[in-house]
Amino acid sequence: MSNVTVIGAQWGDEGKGKIIDWLSNRAEIVVRFQGGNNAGHTIVVGDKTYKLSLLPSGVVQGKRSIIGNGVVVDPWSLLEEIAKVGAAGLSVTPELLVLAENACLVLPLHRELDAMREDAAAQKIGTTKRGIGPTYEDKVGRRALRAIDLKDPISLPGKIEKLLAHHNVLRRGFGHPEVDAVGLLKSLTELAPKIVPFIGSSWRELHAAKLAGKRVLFEGAQAVLLDIDHGTYPFVTSSNTVAGQAAAGSGVSPRDIGTVLGIVKSYTTRVGEGPFPTELKDAIGEKLGQRGHEFGTVTGRKRRCGWFDAVLVRQTCITGGVDGICLTKLDVLDGFDELKVCTHYMLDGERLDYLPADANAQGQATPVYETLQGWSETTAGARSWAELPANAIKYVRRVEELIGSQVLLLSTSPDRDDTIMVRDPFVVL
Ligand code: IMP
Repeated sequence: MSNVTVIGAQWGDEGKGKIIDWLSNRAEIVVRFQGGNNAGHTIVVGDKTYKLSLLPSGVVQGKRSIIGNGVVVDPWSLLEEIAKVGAAGLSVTPELLVLAENACLVLPLHRELDAMREDAAAQKIGTTKRGIGPTYEDKVGRRALRAIDLKDPISLPGKIEKLLAHHNVLRRGFGHPEVDAVGLLKSLTELAPKIVPFIGSSWRELHAAKLAGKRVLFEGAQAVLLDIDHGTYPFVTSSNTVAGQAAAGSGVSPRDIGTVLGIVKSYTTRVGEGPFPTELKDAIGEKLGQRGHEFGTVTGRKRRCGWFDAVLVRQTCITGGVDGICLTKLDVLDGFDELKVCTHYMLDGERLDYLPADANAQGQATPVYETLQGWSETTAGARSWAELPANAIKYVRRVEELIGSQVLLLSTSPDRDDTIMVRDPFVVL
């Protein structure tokens, strides 16, 4: 039995929440390793829907959950989310949840800076305005506050001074009032007793789990095309979202992240700005959006929709380190007469079978499609291959061929149980 790492293989919103929930049933520990509360994972269990942002999805199954060092944590949002899921009947206590001591903290000043920049920018990224980028900047700039700092009231004022020396210059530049060190210290001091009980060591906990032979699920957020290195820069998030980050963002060996499962939607969506070669700004795009309920979990923004882009997914399977995929939302394609799949691009008269690195070239790459026959039957709720129409199976097989990766799981509705297991990711490697 192996561990499993789940990552998004497009621009996010592929349906990771459901699959992570489904897999976490068979894991003992669930770990988040990057991103923050910019993520939105929807989990449907019977008639209950949970929307998680920062909490690892393992909490829904009552599994030991770790927020790893690679995550940036807004501690106020964390407490709000714990209260919200508590009201829905899930008790998240320090026995269940560990917050890595070396995870960096998102503060109100980060959210404000994120919004100030977005509002002022001529070329917007379309961020979630949750302060994620500014916090990662402070992390790399070695001035961020970390969870463990909440345990040390003696050193905290000096760390706040250092952070504000940087931020207040920026704020003056934006014409915003400076942050008062005394006020920030007071609010962090008030917050500390509520957060400190959750603080622990991600790497030590995971090392002990390894020695005890426990199975771990690493839960990625966002997706490879939003990766700071491998995504559609600059229209990306500020963390590495590829599988390698599961190791760095939690403190385990790269050899211990297990089978890497890429989550892939049967068509393509993107929220926020940036190039999107197969985007459909027509009635078909609208139809995909309506049928797929393509509205952002975190911001409520309407997602842009388009045909399946095999060029992108072939690439993200390579850069993301994907061993096999879970294809989701196949049922959204039910009832289309024909379906298109992008097999390559044309750029300046040349054929390309990869996405160029330059944003302008990405914007100019013209998709070339292959047309496949659709199916009129419903695939929603199918739980075996036998329940799928022949053309749906052909679609899945063609996707596998084009992306060069095998389908391990197929998801046919938001419900946990509407999942077809082709091969078990926990035993695949
Ligand atoms: P940020 O992560 O808030 O800095 O936003 C940067 C980009 O990543 C924007 O295009 C966001 O829409 C996108 N993004 C961030 N989190 C998610 C997510 O969970 N799903 C889809 N897109 C996301």
